[in-house]
Amino acid sequence: MAHKIAVIAGDGIGVEVTAVALDVVRAAGVAIETVDFDLGGARYLRTGDILPDAELDQLRTFDAIVGGAIGTPEVPPGVLERGLLLKMRFALDLYINLRPFKAPKSQYNDGVDFMVVRENTEGTYAGEGGLLRQGTSHEIATQGSVNTRMGVERCVRYAFDLAQSRDRKHLTLVHKTNVLTFAGDLWQRTFNEVAAEYADVATAYNHVDAACIYMVQDPARYDVIVTDNLFGDILTDLAGAISGGIGRAASANMNMARTAPSFFEPVHGSAPDIAGKGIADPRAAVFSAVMMLEFLGENDAAQRIRSAVAATDDFSGSTEQIGAAIRGALQDL
Ligand code: IPM
Ligand code: MN
Repeated sequence: MAHKIAVIAGDGIGVEVTAVALDVVRAAGVAIETVDFDLGGARYLRTGDILPDAELDQLRTFDAIVGGAIGTPEVPPGVLERGLLLKMRFALDLYINLRPFKAPKSQYNDGVDFMVVRENTEGTYAGEGGLLRQGTSHEIATQGSVNTRMGVERCVRYAFDLAQSRDRKHLTLVHKTNVLTFAGDLWQRTFNEVAAEYADVATAYNHVDAACIYMVQDPARYDVIVTDNLFGDILTDLAGAISGGIGRAASANMNMARTAPSFFEPVHGSAPDIAGKGIADPRAAVFSAVMMLEFLGENDAAQRIRSAVAATDDFSGSTEQIGAAIRGALQDL
């Protein structure tokens, strides 16, 4: 049976890289039935719609959702991020944002091979807070961080399971427990309690500022990192920069309880500066599609695509040429 995939190619280079990623999936012999959803900056500017509830309900009927990138310079910050991306993450309960990073020894110190598990539905992203006395000299803005025991625990448990499945079996909690003493306490206590159930997983704790130094100077120390929503957002851009660039950074927004479809998208944005030129690296989108295949149980095809991308690692060219090279390597496997 073909997998039913909803496609939100979005804006800018999102459209270009998504087309390549889906072609690669088909070339690997995976049967997919895709439906395009016209969502993103272009649609918003045309109709004022961001993510109507009827379309959100339609998205729920798919096996998975593939995203390119959303955003156009004409749309003010926050509109599409909150109204589309975060609305999807919250409504579909995509509570794990998994972001893998890899770079060979030749490229970076002792090599990079770690995964960041970012909590994806809480923290400062939750939307708590507001503006009071707006526009006056006494204006107040608050933006609280929401951390529930349930939300933290399911994220930490996923991270321990992931660490346990890997060779090194090492998990680092990243937070700022020395300043964020309430949220940090909940994270640290939950982490310690769950750790007691995973005797074979070694653990560490880093403050987020120190983690930024370690990630640049000694990234080989990391195996799996678990962290909150905002720290995870910032840390994964840094991780992308030290491991082959944002053009290769993939991400999976996952509902591990499978009560709604999961959403797979590159870490990068719509890159209006190079949109339409056909020069964006499609590898981040291809890797995101591979994460989708793994989530759908298509492990053989996922592995073959990984091999094909590895075989064409040094190839540079246009978006479409890189796609063709990967598809060619797939045939040669
Ligand atoms: C990401 C992005 C999003 C985030 C934005 C676009 C809302 O930066 O996926 O990392 O902050 O989560
Ligand atoms: Mn980000």
